[in-house]
Amino acid sequence: MPDTLTAAAIAVRENAHATFSKFKVGAAVEDDTGRIHTGCNVENATYGLTVCAERVAIFKAISEGARRFTRVAVVADTDTLTPPCGACRQILWEFCGDVEIVLSNLTGKSETLRLSTLFPRAFDASFL
Ligand code: THU
Repeated sequence: MPDTLTAAAIAVRENAHATFSKFKVGAAVEDDTGRIHTGCNVENATYGLTVCAERVAIFKAISEGARRFTRVAVVADTDTLTPPCGACRQILWEFCGDVEIVLSNLTGKSETLRLSTLFPRAFDASFL
């Protein structure tokens, strides 16, 4: 049984608008009050305007007033667990810092790691 956060990512993945790639992704972020914010990928005919599930989840959370995050879950239907893309790593770093990331697929395979493992030596506001 997946935990609540991963279950939320599995559920929202069904809403993915992945018309072009057919590659559905679900993401869920937990804020410091325990609230879960979800997102799926939303594709666009121009391809380049596609927004990944992770960024949809974070931007939804920010727009709801959340500011501190404790965990992120990402779910895709791949044998090798799907990690966040480079753009999402940057956004996750800026809003979540060195947060715990839970990657899972639909067969119950799962791995938990810190964002700094995926995104070492990040650029962020501390340099400005
Ligand atoms: N995608 C995500 O939503 N998150 C990831 O972590 C990797 C890629 C989406 C973008 C696009 O809609 C599709 O997956 C294929 O790249």
